[in-house]
Amino acid sequence: MTQINRISISDLAAFKKRGEKWAMLTCYEQMTAEIFDEANIPVLLVGDSAGNNFLGEVNTIPVTVDELIPLTRAVVNSTSRAMVVADFPFGSYESGPDASLATGIRFFKEAKAHAVKLEGGAKVVPQIKKLIAAGIPVMGHLGLTPQSVHALGGFKVQGRGDGAAQIIEDAKTLEAAGVFAIVLELVPEDLAKKISEELSIPTVGIGAGKYCDAQVLVWTDLMGITKNPPKLAKAYRNLRAEMLGAAKEFASEVSAGQFPGPEQTFH
Ligand code: KIV
Repeated sequence: MTQINRISISDLAAFKKRGEKWAMLTCYEQMTAEIFDEANIPVLLVGDSAGNNFLGEVNTIPVTVDELIPLTRAVVNSTSRAMVVADFPFGSYESGPDASLATGIRFFKEAKAHAVKLEGGAKVVPQIKKLIAAGIPVMGHLGLTPQSVHALGGFKVQGRGDGAAQIIEDAKTLEAAGVFAIVLELVPEDLAKKISEELSIPTVGIGAGKYCDAQVLVWTDLMGITKNPPKLAKAYRNLRAEMLGAAKEFASEVSAGQFPGPEQTFH
């Protein structure tokens, strides 16, 4: 697909200045990418949530760069307007700035991503600076960082009580390091509000209340496909039931000799 005026980090900065809220969705393949681009979703995240929504894993930890590259390339190739952000999976950046740059270069050259996202606060600043210096825009991710689920003791709300100050400090540190936006996952609404007010870059909330500058959902949650969706998600459709019904109907028509019918038959 040709590239016509894709959404850029300057557009997102302008949305924040104008107080315009925007939506981000995860996306892992061609058909949904085409649909979400047509729906004018400005940012598509090829999240490591592909692990538990596309690759059949229980969480994001086993996901690899090699697995996310073809998914990212499919999303880029199937869109013309959206900014496509590639998520750095666990193990692809923690060891330092050089590892992080190598991962960023792979996502840019092999998958044609427009930006990358990585989890963590002050400890990943050297990685962030190296990427930005190489011309790779970076989105941060604070609060519940799913790659650290074992260290955090489960999928729990972060930043309640004393933990709030650390997240505020990390958000300011990431902004100073040059990230263009920060995902805030599973934090109390008042904390996300304070961070959104104090930063000049956009915050993207997921389970972080209504005051963030943008909101992100995992697409399978949005469409009602996920079997056990998290409390932070809202299903706007019930595609699981629709798809189940269609698959059963097809199988029963085949058993009954009703499919293919005359319309699907060649002579
Ligand atoms: O991987 C992912 O889908 C994410 C979003 C939930 C922000 O990181």
